[in-house]
Amino acid sequence: MATQDDVFKKIVSHAKEYGFVFPSSDIYDGLSAVYDYGQNGVELKNNIKRYWWDAMTLLNENIVGIDSAIFMHPTIWKASGHVDAFNDPLIDNRDSKKRYRADVLIEDHIAKYDDKIEKEVTKGRKRFKESFDESQFRATNPRILEIAARRDALHTRFSEAMNAANLDELRQIIIDEEIVCPVSGTKNWTEVRQFNLMFKTEMGSTADGAMAVYLRPETAQGIFVNYLNVQKTGRMRIPFGIAQIGKAFRNEIVARQFIFRMREFEQMEMQFFVRPGSELEWFGKWKETRMRWHKALGLGDEKYRYHDHEKLAHYANAATDIEFRMPFGFKEVEGIHSRTDFDLSQHEKFSGKNIKYFDPELNESYVPYVIETSIGVDRMFLTVLCSSYEEQSLEGGDTRVVLHLPAPLAPVKCAVMPLVRKDGLPDKAREIVNDLKFDFATHYDEKDSIGKRYRRQDAIGTPFCITVDHQTLEDNTVTLRHRDSMEQQRVNIADLHRLIHDNVSINSLLRKLV
Ligand code: GAP
Repeated sequence: MATQDDVFKKIVSHAKEYGFVFPSSDIYDGLSAVYDYGQNGVELKNNIKRYWWDAMTLLNENIVGIDSAIFMHPTIWKASGHVDAFNDPLIDNRDSKKRYRADVLIEDHIAKYDDKIEKEVTKGRKRFKESFDESQFRATNPRILEIAARRDALHTRFSEAMNAANLDELRQIIIDEEIVCPVSGTKNWTEVRQFNLMFKTEMGSTADGAMAVYLRPETAQGIFVNYLNVQKTGRMRIPFGIAQIGKAFRNEIVARQFIFRMREFEQMEMQFFVRPGSELEWFGKWKETRMRWHKALGLGDEKYRYHDHEKLAHYANAATDIEFRMPFGFKEVEGIHSRTDFDLSQHEKFSGKNIKYFDPELNESYVPYVIETSIGVDRMFLTVLCSSYEEQSLEGGDTRVVLHLPAPLAPVKCAVMPLVRKDGLPDKAREIVNDLKFDFATHYDEKDSIGKRYRRQDAIGTPFCITVDHQTLEDNTVTLRHRDSMEQQRVNIADLHRLIHDNVSINSLLRKLV
């Protein structure tokens, strides 16, 4: 049976083969952790962004969007804490010369304890067969309890070291746990050092004393420094939100798992400004609202879970992640944070400008508190791709690879195909394309057998194929083929628009949210 690792490899090669994601600079052998989106990928990505943007700005009359610049005044990153504290702990193995994130090495090691527990459970299941009570076994088996206790102790030690930014202790954990380099297999580790993740460049000519600027590591700061501009010009009243989609850059030490951790990526962030004291209520609302947005896509409710943060950053008073079950485990896709008044107060302090909000109802001024929802476009893309990919065995020994993409996100909504390339069928098919193309991404395809053409569309997740045959010329009906069920329906050309629209519009998703 194929392992999850094998499945993931197939998804990555499928993404390349069908024009979704290419390694950047491919003909130069790629650039590590940087990717390009192909002809189908860009459409899928745009649809994800459209779904998010409309859910924020159309469904909420108190949320508006902005598009701030990637370059910002460098003091912004001093104020936000990124210059001093946006670091990852790195460690090198002297034998393999490979570099790792010390925290990731330890996290992976902690996950091995969970694997050991699962192995014990599998053994128990085999041994006790029908009488096996899994929850009782987990709660009482001495071997499992011992492993869990060791894991928990290690987890506590690790969290304390991370929170205190204690690099010596992180190294000591690696030594004590006898963690070896996956490449050299040795324990010959260097010291742990902090590594700032921001990319730095220069603005202006060096002769005149160029200014050091950063590529933004998050889009959020562009919202914070514009919040009063938007509030005043848009006559916004608290509570209100500002949404933004844009590129972010992080010089990740170890970039792994395809587009999961990239050095150039895209974020969709929304900062919601509220009265001090009401933030935890809003945090709860946004936590639910964002989960509903994910689940409306129908990728499978059981694939999502919250991961509430126990230890919080000093400026946050609540935080949770929405995690999704990727082929390589549950992973963070979105973060929801109650960031207090930290960022705005810091900008007030560093800029020397008063950025308080005057609340006409309370007749007082204050620095608003902020709830942030922050999701990576590329990670969202990966969740959609991973949960949509299926290799199906069909009756008669045939197989197909199909992407069960949510229809509103599919890059192509329908493909129109003349059954044969003669007898006026291509002209009729073109007529249909010329009508549908104003509303839907429509493909025309006349090459190869009809079966091959269906497979090509299945592989890119096209929800509908429309086949024009000789009967079409007589009665203006066509075959409408449904991607998932492969069911074929005879319909009137005049009904095509409605049938397709009902399934593929972003509105059909948005309506599930209200
Ligand atoms: N403004 C808050 C913020 O940036 P974060 O947890 O660092 O918080 C938010 O990032 C989201 O951005 C993550 O949940 C993830 O989806 C995405 N993200 C972060 N780093 C990423 C990377 N290197 N590659 C791809 N996506 C990333």
